Amino acid sequence: MGSKEIKKVTTHVLHEMKEKGERISMLTAYDYSFARILDDAGIDVLLVGDSASNVMAGHQTTLPITLDQMIYHAASVVRAVSRALVVVDLPFGSYQGNSKEALNSTIRIMKESGAHAVKMEGGKEVKESVDRILSAGVPVMGHLGLTPQSIYKFGTYVVRAKEETEAKKLIEDAHLLEDAGCFAIVLEKIPAKLAGRVASELKIPVIGIGAGNKVDGQVLVLHDMLGFTKQFNPRFLRRYLNLYDEVKASVGKYIKDVKSLDFPNDREQY
Ligand code: KIV
Repeated sequence: MGSKEIKKVTTHVLHEMKEKGERISMLTAYDYSFARILDDAGIDVLLVGDSASNVMAGHQTTLPITLDQMIYHAASVVRAVSRALVVVDLPFGSYQGNSKEALNSTIRIMKESGAHAVKMEGGKEVKESVDRILSAGVPVMGHLGLTPQSIYKFGTYVVRAKEETEAKKLIEDAHLLEDAGCFAIVLEKIPAKLAGRVASELKIPVIGIGAGNKVDGQVLVLHDMLGFTKQFNPRFLRRYLNLYDEVKASVGKYIKDVKSLDFPNDREQY
């Protein structure tokens, strides 16, 4: 089944893709215009990531973005999509340490944006929230490895789970999330061998970012892969465009045309 033939991507479709060995494509999206293009191109999953805090709002970390802001981005993406599964990040402070708040935040996201699922960072420590959200019928995607909402605990964005103790906890957490009922898990910036092991042990799809190619799918931050963010250069990032320079050159040309009275010309006016 070629990905473009699928009418609507559901969590069930993702499981079938894993069973067939068909890789899952996922990108972040935060607005209507880009989401429309990505959906039309045939992307399987759109993640309204809290990376919006960085690439849309210019914050240093993902921590400042609010639930209201995530809902605004998610609703814009949902309006554009007819095929992809739309997953929304629960932002920092909207779920940690309080499963009732986690459910309330999820209900707001689902009702106010029309998204299809939520994602949250963490393993054992968020299990109660995962259970509560799933009991309300909302699909949950897990996120392990480098979890950017915990950046001040980690202190750095280096590769996670290189040491045996952390790798062991990650494997346990992945199984715990699968047993709890998560429909998929993101593994961020961990050794490829470890990610491959997790993907082969779990029945649910494992989507990697900086986690090698032995997993069931890949996700990148849209603005990074399109080359809007020049200063961010991790090894795992493949850039498909250099939009920063291209947009800058086009705007430079527009400025020149306006200043030189070249724009608008006779055919561009009434
Ligand atoms: O917010 C985000 O963009 C993410 C991806 C890096 C997986 O969580």
